[in-house]
Amino acid sequence: MNLKQMVGVESAKYVKNGMTVGLGTGSTAFYMVEEIGRRMREENLDITGVTTSKATEKQAKELGIPLKSIDEVDHVDITIDGADEISKDFHGIKGGGAALLFEKIVATYSKETIWIVDESKMVDKLGAFPLPVEVIPYGSNQLLHLFNSKELNPKIRVQDNGNPLLTDSKNYIIDLYLKEIDEPKELATWLDHQVGVVEHGLFLDMASRVIVGTSENGVQTIEVSR
Ligand code: 5RP
Repeated sequence: MNLKQMVGVESAKYVKNGMTVGLGTGSTAFYMVEEIGRRMREENLDITGVTTSKATEKQAKELGIPLKSIDEVDHVDITIDGADEISKDFHGIKGGGAALLFEKIVATYSKETIWIVDESKMVDKLGAFPLPVEVIPYGSNQLLHLFNSKELNPKIRVQDNGNPLLTDSKNYIIDLYLKEIDEPKELATWLDHQVGVVEHGLFLDMASRVIVGTSENGVQTIEVSR
């Protein structure tokens, strides 16, 4: 098993019968969704999934996982998702797979959030990974100018054909190449207040447990106390 698979399988152990489970997006979350599918087939696990992207929805449907939208459930018991970076104080950057908006909504309404990563994602300070910001297309050029004027090194994320990548909600992603984020809470609050910004990839104080795959020590589970 590779590290992503190891943490994906480990995280699925926290899923119990009857739970409503937020299903994250990405190459690590993929393994968690597969493992839940296996447990449903082989162990009669009975859950309802709330997906965070079209890609995960497709995978979950193929596995026969019953799904509801976030607006059809009264709560989410647990959300399991990947991350692009996790700092020492367990804040995260997410959105490398452009699914940050639904990921943040589902995590926000979840009683518990588990992040699953390989050890390469654990960092001292956030920011080496470009910070994704989801913006509506209308006015996005103005936001690019604004971010440039604040020296946030913005770049519109593009598809292979050079056109802007569209998120599941048909928005654009502007990646901010920051290198280091000294004050993530300040930056998050500033981004929250910019017109046209739909959501950003700073996930602060959201994870209650982090499962890290390491090549030397196997799977390490960290309980996050807030
Ligand atoms: C998607 C995400 C992913 O969880 C994040 O990009 C990690 O992905 P991977 O497990 O493929 O490295 O935030 O929007």
